[in-house]
Amino acid sequence: MPTDTVDTEYAFENAAADAVPQLRALEAFLDPITMRRLAPPVLVPSATCWEIGAGGGSVARGMAWAVGPDGRVLATDIDTARLVPAANLGVRRHDVRAEPPGEDFDLIHARLVLLHLPERRRVLRTLVDALAPDGWLVVEEFDCTAPLRVLTAPNDDAGKLFGQVTDAMLGILQGHGADLGWAQDVHAEMMAAGLADVDTVTHAESWAGGSTGASLYATNSRQLQPELLEAGFSAGQLEAFRTLLSNPDFVVMSYQFVSTRGRRPGDRGA
Ligand SMILES: C[S@@+](CC[C@H](N)C(=O)[O-])C[C@H]1O[C@@H](n2cnc3c(N)ncnc32)[C@H](O)[C@@H]1O
Repeated sequence: MPTDTVDTEYAFENAAADAVPQLRALEAFLDPITMRRLAPPVLVPSATCWEIGAGGGSVARGMAWAVGPDGRVLATDIDTARLVPAANLGVRRHDVRAEPPGEDFDLIHARLVLLHLPERRRVLRTLVDALAPDGWLVVEEFDCTAPLRVLTAPNDDAGKLFGQVTDAMLGILQGHGADLGWAQDVHAEMMAAGLADVDTVTHAESWAGGSTGASLYATNSRQLQPELLEAGFSAGQLEAFRTLLSNPDFVVMSYQFVSTRGRRPGDRGA
């Protein structure tokens, strides 16, 4: 497996045990939305696709099924621990900030990757350059600037603790280079890069304690536990936060998921 630059500020680790529930929860929440956004004419049989930061690999597998035996999917990640190759699905360890794979793609998809990278604007331009004529770029991110509204809580302290821990987790991600508002910039960046048919949809939903969605906040807190302790939380507070997220009387809104896509004009913008 070729390896390019792997120095990264990315805050999570796919090889960690807690990454399994994290990636599964993301997939359960987001795959139905993503696969709707990738429906034809975006993803078609025989296409050549690049799935960036493929994580647990479910979108790459969905793409591989959709393109069929005459198509091909390249799934890349800095951490390929959870990715399994198949007949028309290649897996490669690759940092998206390095040179792109050196071929043109009919579809490039990146979900919850660029927001973590300080070089996101430059990277987006390299992705546009890696598109074949009429190829699609689909970039999907959480808009973490929108407040995470608590809909019902067993008591006032519960809502307060939720706000404090989730704010601290976002602060940690920012410390690793994340731009919490980047999701809302992608549309303009795609237009400025010359893409056509650019459109954006946003999705958010309620998550009751105990649901797969709510578990995402809990698993993130486990993965970021050392930095949360450093930030001044006690182990007991973090345990109380997780207990809250398994209580069905506690209901919060999800992050806002923003999906933006655009097509490279057939004349390559000439
Ligand atoms: C939040 S996870 C999302 C995984 C998957 N895209 C999904 O939505 O289910 C972010 C993924 O991006 C990968 N990643 C982070 N920095 C990267 C980089 N510089 N180049 C390629 N992948 C990267 C991580 O290893 C991780 O698998």
